[in-house]
Amino acid sequence: MAHQVRAVVSRSVKQPVEVVTINVPDPGAGEALVRPQATGVCHTDLHYREGGINDEFPFLLGHETAGIVEAVGEGVVHVAPGDFVVLNWRAVCGECRACRKGVPRNCFDTHNATQPMTLDDGTPLTAALGIGSFAELTLVAAGQCTKVPQVDPAAAGLLGCGVMAGFGAAVNTGELQRGETIAVFGCGGVGDAAIAGAVVAGATTIIAVDLDERKLEWAKGFGATHTVDASKVDPVEAIRELTHGEGAHKTLDCSSAPTARRAAVQAVRAWGTACFVGERGMVEFDVSNDILRRQVTLVGSWTFSKQGQAECAEFVADHDIAVDRLFTHRWRLDQAEEAYKLFDSQTTGKAVILPNG
Ligand SMILES: NC(=O)c1ccc[n+]([C@@H]2O[C@H](COP(=O)([O-])OP(=O)(O)OC[C@H]3O[C@@H](n4cnc5c(N)ncnc54)[C@H](O)[C@@H]3O)[C@@H](O)[C@H]2O)c1
Ligand SMILES: [Zn+2]
Ligand SMILES: [Zn+2]
Repeated sequence: MAHQVRAVVSRSVKQPVEVVTINVPDPGAGEALVRPQATGVCHTDLHYREGGINDEFPFLLGHETAGIVEAVGEGVVHVAPGDFVVLNWRAVCGECRACRKGVPRNCFDTHNATQPMTLDDGTPLTAALGIGSFAELTLVAAGQCTKVPQVDPAAAGLLGCGVMAGFGAAVNTGELQRGETIAVFGCGGVGDAAIAGAVVAGATTIIAVDLDERKLEWAKGFGATHTVDASKVDPVEAIRELTHGEGAHKTLDCSSAPTARRAAVQAVRAWGTACFVGERGMVEFDVSNDILRRQVTLVGSWTFSKQGQAECAEFVADHDIAVDRLFTHRWRLDQAEEAYKLFDSQTTGKAVILPNG
């Protein structure tokens, strides 16, 4: 039986999102039907709407989610109806070459639900990051559900994407060491999580870079020791000044701005690591000799780079990091376009949508 529920859909590029009725099938073998309680507004959903990910419209948006399992399909044993879960966009297969080698984070064949969710007229929807959780119900591969202790769903949902991405980039991919300096470009949900991760890793100088004074103020609340307003000064020069002319040991681009990506490479010191976390920022510049001579490492970090959600949840709990401090707005499903407009104009901090609120 298909369930008819309300959901946020992006029908075509750069057009406002709409709240429409969609059909969500009952779970088949290996699938789970989940009732999202909270879904964070992540910049990646905006990239979908702007045509920056691919052109497989219509998209069912939303992916940073915690919710309750409503029903499971045949063969599903690790989660059951009533479980509180975080949804993850990479459910590893356990069978491919990477999984067999014991490196599941590099899995080539992560799982999503096989049955499509559809518009009322039967048009299949592309679920953002294989989740699609700005919806009263969503269908995922059961392996995408990580059972976690019941906490504020808004905070738990962030473990599904932004918090993992920021923490993971600073602590794992960037391998930030005690006493090192780090510069974080872009202080939204992802960048602030990276700053909180830098504190835990023991970085002594944590430089937050943004174009917006309010974002820089919030970043201080997460542990930034210095701030740089890149709308007023050259961030590369400012970072060098703050690091005795050398540049930061580690730089992270957590914006989606090409200029920030370039600056992250330029502001890292010799033998340092520049890490790209922000998506989409197409940037062309000649780094070959610069990287070669300064022996800089350039690395990409994708949410699951080195850490699974369960470990991330433990990490956040163990270090008593108040993820919910990220939130500035909580919205209803029918306020999604309003939320996107504010988010796009960079006038909010982290926003969350309560699909069943
Ligand atoms: N790699 C991953 O696994 C992963 C996971 C989640 C999100 N992302 C990506 O990370 C990026 C950030 O996501 P978010 O949800 O935190 O977005 P956000 O919009 O909340 O934050 C981006 C921040 O960058 C700032 N910014 C814009 N241009 C800048 C510039 N030139 N210099 C410095 N700061 C600048 C903005 O003011 C804003 O505060 C997006 O591109 C998103 O798609 C990547
Ligand atoms: Zn995301
Ligand atoms: Zn695999």
